[in-house]
Parts: sequence; C-alpha cells; structure tokens
Amino acid sequence: MRLFVAIDLPWELRERLALLAWRGIPGARWVQAENFHLTLRFIGEIQSWQAEEIDHALAALRGRGFPLTLAGVGTFSKAGRATQLWVGVERSPQLDHLRAKIETALQRVGLPAERRRFVPHITLARLDNAAETRLAAFVQQHNLFRAEPVAVEHFTLFSSRLGKEQAVYMAEAEYPLG
Ligand code: 2AM
Repeated sequence: MRLFVAIDLPWELRERLALLAWRGIPGARWVQAENFHLTLRFIGEIQSWQAEEIDHALAALRGRGFPLTLAGVGTFSKAGRATQLWVGVERSPQLDHLRAKIETALQRVGLPAERRRFVPHITLARLDNAAETRLAAFVQQHNLFRAEPVAVEHFTLFSSRLGKEQAVYMAEAEYPLG
C-alpha cells in the first residue's frame, strides 16, 4: 500500500480553497475539495506488516495541537516547467516540531530518512503545459490569499489509491494531539 502522513483540513477551509479553482488555466487539473491536505511525510509503497509498525509508532508519538494558517499561493517547477500550483502554509515552530517527531518515529521503524526539504503546501492543481502567463496572473491575483487560522487537533495516516481522475485518499488512522 501507498501511505503518507498529513493534516486534513476542516470542511469550511476546503470549500474556501475550492473557490480558488479557476477555469482560466488550461492544462490545470484541479484537486477536488475532499482531497485537500497538508502532507507532513510521504511514506510511499510499503508492505502491510510495516504499515502496522508505522501505525504503532505514530500512535505512541506525543504531540500538541497548534494553529495552522494558510497564506499565499505559488508553483513548483521541474526542468523549467510548472508542475503544481499550491496554497502556502505559514511556517511555525509547532508545525516543524510535529514534522520532526514524525520523521524520528518513522526512522525508528526502519524507513529511510526523508531527503527532500520540507516545503509545507496544499496542492491546488497539477499542471500539464499550463500557460505561464495564466499561471503568473493567478499567482498575482491570489498572492494575498490568507485564511483564518484553524486548530490542528490530530494528524492522519492516509492511504492513496490511483483513481480514474484523481487519487483516492483514505484516512487509515487518526492520531490526536494533546
Ligand atoms: P504533492 O501534493 O506536493 O504532490 C499524496 O500523494 C501526497 O504525498 C501528496 O500531498 C504529495 O505531495 C505527496 N507526495 C507524493 N509523492 C511524493 C514524493 N515522492 N515525495 C514527497 N511527497 C510526495
């Protein structure tokens, strides 16, 4: 199974993000509201025995709740082409701390260390040859996007299955934050 650890978002916030979807960017595949999330750690394909160990390790983790604020929009590029459009997440010591704890817990059960830099974001759309000018206009238009902080009271282990249009994410376990 394919797993990742993420923070899911309250429905009101998802609806707000969904309102950002704009028809003016040909080549953008907009993520549906039920799929919005903030990935804390991508795990990838693993065996089910290992999933159980991961679940135990995450359940044993003691973390505290914290406020999360979404702000700004931006793009990721690969080889000079924009691949993703996202909403940014304000960095906070609590978010970094939770992520570090998850990383430690996962390494303890034998997963290799995450080499990628953590750039917290919520993917709004995946892009195939989207026009740069349209993207730039979108970013400019929504640069000042800012949502009211939401309380993060748990984090979630998700599985991901490839669907026809979009991946189908399922919450496999939720871990409360005190
Ligand atoms: P993305 O939204 O930036 O693409 C489920 O696929 C989640 O895991 C998504 O949030 C995705 O991030 C992230 N993800 C997928 N493949 C990844 C990889 N190889 N490394 C890091 N994160 C990945």
